This record gives sequence, structure tokens and C-alpha cells, in this order.
Amino acid sequence: MCGIVGYTGSQQAAPILLDGLKKLEYRGYDSAGIAILNDGAIKVDKVSGRIANLCELTEEGKKCPGTIGIGHTRWATHGAPTDTNAHPHLSNDGRFAVVHNGIIENYICLREELIGKGYHFDSETDTEVIVHLIEMYYRGDLRRAVIKTSARLSGSYALGVICTDKPDTICVAREASPLILGVGAGENYFASDVTALVANTRNAIYLDDGEFAEITPDGVTVFDPAGQTITKKISRITWDIEAAEKGGYEHFMLKEIIEQPRAVKATITPRIKDGKIVLDEIEWSREYLESINKIVITACGSAYYAGCAAKYTIEKLCRIPVSVELASELRYSDPLIDEHTLLIVLSQSGETADTIAAMKECKSRGARTLAIVNVVGSTIAKLADDTLYTWAGPEIAVATTKGYTTQVCVLYLVAVYIARTLDKLEDADYYHHLSSMLTLPKKVQEALDMNPKIPKMAKKYHATKSMFFIGRNTDYAIALEGALKMKEISYIHAESYAAGELKHGTIALIEEHQPVIALCCNTALMEKTLSNIVEVKARGAEVLAVAFKGNQEILSQADDVIFIPKIDTLFSAVVEIVPMQILAYYVAKENGCDIDKPKNLAKSVTVE
Ligand code: F6R
Repeated sequence: MCGIVGYTGSQQAAPILLDGLKKLEYRGYDSAGIAILNDGAIKVDKVSGRIANLCELTEEGKKCPGTIGIGHTRWATHGAPTDTNAHPHLSNDGRFAVVHNGIIENYICLREELIGKGYHFDSETDTEVIVHLIEMYYRGDLRRAVIKTSARLSGSYALGVICTDKPDTICVAREASPLILGVGAGENYFASDVTALVANTRNAIYLDDGEFAEITPDGVTVFDPAGQTITKKISRITWDIEAAEKGGYEHFMLKEIIEQPRAVKATITPRIKDGKIVLDEIEWSREYLESINKIVITACGSAYYAGCAAKYTIEKLCRIPVSVELASELRYSDPLIDEHTLLIVLSQSGETADTIAAMKECKSRGARTLAIVNVVGSTIAKLADDTLYTWAGPEIAVATTKGYTTQVCVLYLVAVYIARTLDKLEDADYYHHLSSMLTLPKKVQEALDMNPKIPKMAKKYHATKSMFFIGRNTDYAIALEGALKMKEISYIHAESYAAGELKHGTIALIEEHQPVIALCCNTALMEKTLSNIVEVKARGAEVLAVAFKGNQEILSQADDVIFIPKIDTLFSAVVEIVPMQILAYYVAKENGCDIDKPKNLAKSVTVE
């Protein structure tokens, strides 16, 4: 996720900005840059890759004289991670430089408008429209130009702007992206994150959405969209640096679990516009979709399970057969794939070696490929014919959480999109599905809020040697991911079974006090799963059930129940997995495991 910093004072700005950017490295980034205002001109240095490259280019900032500047680490969203797309961005007249954290959703129409007015664009970024709008609106008052520009933007932004006419002033603005002012003595700062501030000052002002500020060496002034000054409280930062990086959470995994409503919203909402699904990034004609006779989904680990969960939705809505294949198997299976196969490749990192190999194998047999990836410009994104990004932001914990849920969300969008294009959905069903998908961020938040007792349940179950996860249909697919979460971070042996399969063997393993996690959110099959619960309970199992709020029947059958908000079964995986992630997290915590870096595992598996 992008990070921004700024400084104005009496010291050389560049080394302070570089230090601040290094503190933001943990957020994930693929390019970095700084802009320094000195002697009436702005000099920009920016490079793709690590901050170390920027330090080398600027000789640790020594080559950049000047006491005011802004800096940025970019995590590519719009446009590949290149030098040109890196921030800061300069106006055509060279008078303004901007750094931006967030996404400008209406940048395409703003870009067209600005090009029509004669502005030229250097980068492919959404951000560049901001600096040209500021130049367009500037009439000698930077504050006014920034306010007018902000009024044109939809989406999220934390902005830092410098202007050659104001040699000691930085103007900042915030809407739905964090922005914090650091208050010093004779020098002041801003950053997207307190981590970049604490080495310099512990006095902070947290801007709220819709607020702006002017920062000079002598002080900071905060104002509202009408330009009226507002008085803000100065807070004391008490976090140490490591805690600050995790946003106050004990582990990245917990932070990323909590971030899911935002990640799901960022992935779904911009793709449902004016009552229809808009997948700008792909070009599938109706003729092409009619020519497909099967869809193959391939991936590894949790990404594979994301495919398993969405298979039901795709088949139900599109009536096209879907097979979900482990990439490590598919690559060596002499697969039955041709130009009538749509291959969907799922990968958070976009660099998983087996997934890349399977993709190449299927491409060589004629399949058209759609990649669903989180990291922009990654190998899988580049290899694919079409790419849809999950806007989860960087995932740092090794065990994926928001990576998985956003992959499932994109597959839901694809399912409804294909079904509609092929006329398999009546208007009423189509609109019903769109509104179900739009409620997902809220439902995920409710699933987080409804379960304060999970840490207590973890204390009850953490000492077990093994756990079974059971479910049917969609519940089974979610059980697969639930069991993987449990085993990889808590080191407890956890297996998932299709509930109907128990009596074909596995039930022999059930004995007194064996924990069984029973997923019961597939309404049509609830009664069937309840009979499986009765079977295992009769053999001494302790059952922890996951069910929709309001399900009274489950209370009399299970020992413990986790409730989630009711949601159409077609889209339930994204909500239902959340308490499973939390349970795994707290069980691992009880067991004293290294949650963010489980033993033997790596975040990106770039070897076979
Ligand atoms: C489990 C986990 C892994 C990944 C798998 C694929 O929590 O994170 O199973 O899902 O290694 O990784 P990507 O999605 O980067 O291809």
C-alpha cells in the first residue's frame, strides 16, 4: 500500500524523507520517490524497486538540497511499477508536485477532460490527474486550488502538494485514506502512518475525512472544505515503531483480517456501476463467451480453495462446467484443454512457480487466460490475456486472509458477469445478485463484530491434537480453507471432509472430545449437515458449529455456535471464512506460535 511523507523546516529535507519512507517499507511497495523544492524549482527523483535504489541515486539525499519536500512509496495499482509511474508527479508547468495515497475512481473521465484542455500526461497513474487539476485551478492561492481539485475527485486520497510560489508550505488533504500531521518545533511533518513520524516527533494531529491543512515550519493550520480554520487536538503517539507498523494490532494477520471489509469493498464496489458489472480490464465478447465449453480454475493453497468456493457460484449461474485444479498437478497432467477452455488463474503474489507453469502449459494448448492477482505487474499478471486485480493491498502475514476473500469476490463478479452476458440471468435475479455483492463489506464487518467470544472458544479447543472441519457443498469448500488456516498457523493437524463422506471412513477417528467444526450455512443442505453433527456427537465429538444468525435448531445440537449474518449461499464464502480465520488466529496465539511467519512457510513460493 502506498505511503506518503512530507517535511518543512530548517534541516535538509531529503534525508528526513528517505528515513520516513524506510519506516513505511513494511506496507509493501514497488517504487519510491521524493520531490524537493529549492531555489524556486522542484526537483524530483524517483525509481522503481527498493528505497535503497533511491538512496543510491540521491547519495542518501545529499544530492538534493532544500528544506521542504514530499516523498512516496508506491504500491502499483494503475499502471505498472515503473520509474515514470512512481510518485511524486509534476504539473506540466513544473510549479506543483503531488504525492497521493489512495485510488481516484473517476480518473478516466478527468484524464480525458484534461487532455482535451491541452494537458499532457507522462504516467498511466490515476494520481497524475490531481497535479494537472491543481495547475488548472491555481490562481495564486494553493489552498483554494487544492480544495477545488478535491471537490472533483471520487475515491480515496491522502495528498501532499508543494508549489514553487510557496517556498515553505505543504498543502495536504484527506478523504478515506489516513493522513497524520507531525507537530515539531520550528519544523513540521505529515505522513500516511505514524511509523514515519515517531523518530521525529510524538505530537500528532489526525486529519478527518474532508479536512485540509497547510504545513509551514512555524505551524500547522487545519481547515474545512469551505476554507474555514478548524481547531484540532494534538495527540501524543505512545506506540513504539513495531506496534505502529501493525496499526496497533499484535500481528499483521489480525490487522489483515480486520481490514477485510475495506479490501472487499475496494474490490467489488468500483466494479458495480450504474446498476451493472463493469469489468473495464477485460474484453470478452458475447461470441467468445459462447464459444467456451468449460472453465478451468488453477492455483495453489488458499488460492486453490478460493476457486473451490466460487466453482459452485459459477456453475449455478453460468451453467458452464468448472473444474478446479491444483497447479502443481495440472502442469504435469497432459490436460484436456483447448481454445474452448477459459483458464482462470488465481494468485495473491502473482509469482507462484507452479501456478505460472500450469498457466504456460494451458496457454500453449490454446486456452485464453484470465489472471486474478493482487500484485500489479507480477509475472502472472503479465502472462495473462486478461487480468483482474484484487484490491486487497499488500498482504504481509504469510497466511493469506484478505487475499483469499478478495479472490473469491472477483470470481463472484466474473460469475455474474458471464451469466448476464450469456442471458442466463433475468433482470430481477441480476439486480438481486448485484445488491447481495454490494452488501458483502457490511456483512464481513458484522461477521467480525458478532463474534467476541472466539478468543474464549480458542482457549477451549487449543490443546487438541487434531480437528475436523465438515460441511457440504459451499460449506465444504470453506471448510477446506478453514482447516488450512488452522494447520498452517497453529500447527494442529486439521482436515476437512465433505460431511456426507464421514461415514465412508473418517468417522472411525471420532472419539471422546474430538473437536469437529461443522459449517452449516448452506441453507438447502442444513438438515443433512445436522444429521452428520448428530452422528459425530453420538461418538463423543465436541461440535463447534458455524451458522446463520437466527438459526435456533443449531443451538440444541452443537456444543458451541459461531453466528454470522445471513447471506445468499451463492456469496457466503467471503463472510463465512472470517470466523474461521479468527478462530485459527486465537488458537495459534494460545499455542504461542509465530503467527505472521509460521515455520517452514514462505509468503511467495517461487520454486516448484
Ligand atoms: C495459505 C497461503 C498459501 C497461498 C499459496 C498460493 O495461507 O497463503 O496457501 O495461498 O501459496 O500463493 P499465491 O496466491 O501467492 O499464488
